[in-house]
Amino acid sequence: MPGGAILSTSIYVDRVEAPITFKAYLMCAFAAFGGMFFGYDSGYISGVMGMQYFIATLTGLNPDTTPIAKFTLPSWKKSAITSILSAGTFFGSLMAGDLADYVGRRPTIIAGCIVLIVGVGLQTASANFGLLFAGRLVAGFGVGYVSAIIILYMSEIAPRKVRGAIVSGYQFCITIGLLFASCVDYGTQNRTDSGSYRIPIALQMAWALILGIGLFFLPESPRYFVKKDMLDKAVVVLAKLRGQPCDSDYVQQELAEIVANNDYERQLIPQNNYFETWFACFRGNIRDRSSNLRRTILGTSIQMMQQWTGINFIFYFGTTFFQELGTISDPFLMSLITSLVNVCSTPISFWTIEKFGRRPLMIWGALGMLLCEFVVAIVGVICKDNPSAIKAMITFICIYIFFFASTWGPGAWVVTGEIFPLPIRSRGVALSVASNWLWNCVIAVITPYMVGTDKGNLGPRVFFIWGSLCTVCLVYAYFLIPETKGLTLEQVDRMLEECPTRASSKWVPRSRPMTDFDLTEKSAVQETIEHKEEKSEV
Ligand code: BGC
Repeated sequence: MPGGAILSTSIYVDRVEAPITFKAYLMCAFAAFGGMFFGYDSGYISGVMGMQYFIATLTGLNPDTTPIAKFTLPSWKKSAITSILSAGTFFGSLMAGDLADYVGRRPTIIAGCIVLIVGVGLQTASANFGLLFAGRLVAGFGVGYVSAIIILYMSEIAPRKVRGAIVSGYQFCITIGLLFASCVDYGTQNRTDSGSYRIPIALQMAWALILGIGLFFLPESPRYFVKKDMLDKAVVVLAKLRGQPCDSDYVQQELAEIVANNDYERQLIPQNNYFETWFACFRGNIRDRSSNLRRTILGTSIQMMQQWTGINFIFYFGTTFFQELGTISDPFLMSLITSLVNVCSTPISFWTIEKFGRRPLMIWGALGMLLCEFVVAIVGVICKDNPSAIKAMITFICIYIFFFASTWGPGAWVVTGEIFPLPIRSRGVALSVASNWLWNCVIAVITPYMVGTDKGNLGPRVFFIWGSLCTVCLVYAYFLIPETKGLTLEQVDRMLEECPTRASSKWVPRSRPMTDFDLTEKSAVQETIEHKEEKSEV
């Protein structure tokens, strides 16, 4: 099509996309680095809470005179320290949705980096529960900004054919963050000074600096400019992202599609004031697959389900769980291994998510996870103290992590970034990410009570709960997750309108004129800009 006449007036025929240059690819992939925050912040705390110096500092207990079983943080403190970050991120991601529409996606992420640095500073300075708690709350806001808007930004700038793979790169960075946190904890755990916990905490600043500075060199999302009616800027950033000149047909057609779809959606969803923009996320009929309400429910519930898989039980409480299993000589090493499995399994999804699609990955992933979880629970209950049984449990926990990391881990983020129409996208994604953190928080709060030896003491039986929740994830994926592979974000809109979820893998973009643009005569961008000017003159 480039260079030649455009045959259809429809914006929904499958158009040819610009070849992806290495630079364009790198630009999109850099944003994934934001995942490091998420992973590192969630990951380092589990190890820190098991450190002798840290426990002694926060409880005043003497490790030499206190029996090992008693030398631990009380459940409520563990729960509060772990969960307060998620509480901060919950509110941070909600606020970020607003900010991203007012000032842009990029400045919002940069603001998140600054807030995170402040929160980390407080935590690093802390030598008591209060300041640590406050620091984690502030840092949580920063992580919330970053985690909500990175997904939005990446989904909006990535070429559609590699969008799934690129957003999976975000998950990959989360896993690297988690692994890195375990390594740092492992390296500092035996220090007999405050460096044991201060080093792992302070290192987070490095991620914020790298991402914040790097983002200054990346372009804003073209979809943000379209939303703001700044088409001249939209064309420039799109050309930069695709590595093409501004007047290239590729760029013009892609922009025309974004503009036309945005206009169409705006007609359907008028948003005249602040409250209406939020209210728009909940408009429509719950029975209508393509209504905003249904999409918001889909985005928030997929994130909730991702947490229900129980993955954070391993990453937040793994160290203490393995300690309590007894026969594991080095629980820190154990959590290092689980993080390594997580990292190594995630890249598989770069390929599978584009090859097989989102739906199959989520369905098979849930099946794999639930089977592993039930095996761990059954083995744990039947032969609890047998060393071979414990090895079997650990093996199945690792297989479970493999399934999560290659399916639901990246899949939930990819789908979340793809299902919202532009007028409500920033808020829809923000609500979904807030849901991830809300459930993350709920799990962080209740888990110590379920498994703590001084509380519910469920031990391996807790895996019956995770296995049952994963069964719900399987049913959910089968009935509710649509296939969005290979479609532009604008085509996803149409697919949701036209096609039942279970048949979505077979949907192909069809021609249907929806705008006044005459793409055969003039460039799409010129047409678009003129069209806008005419409207404003009227
Ligand atoms: C989840 C996190 C989890 C991580 C593990 C992410 O997709 O949202 O809660 O800790 O994966 O890799």
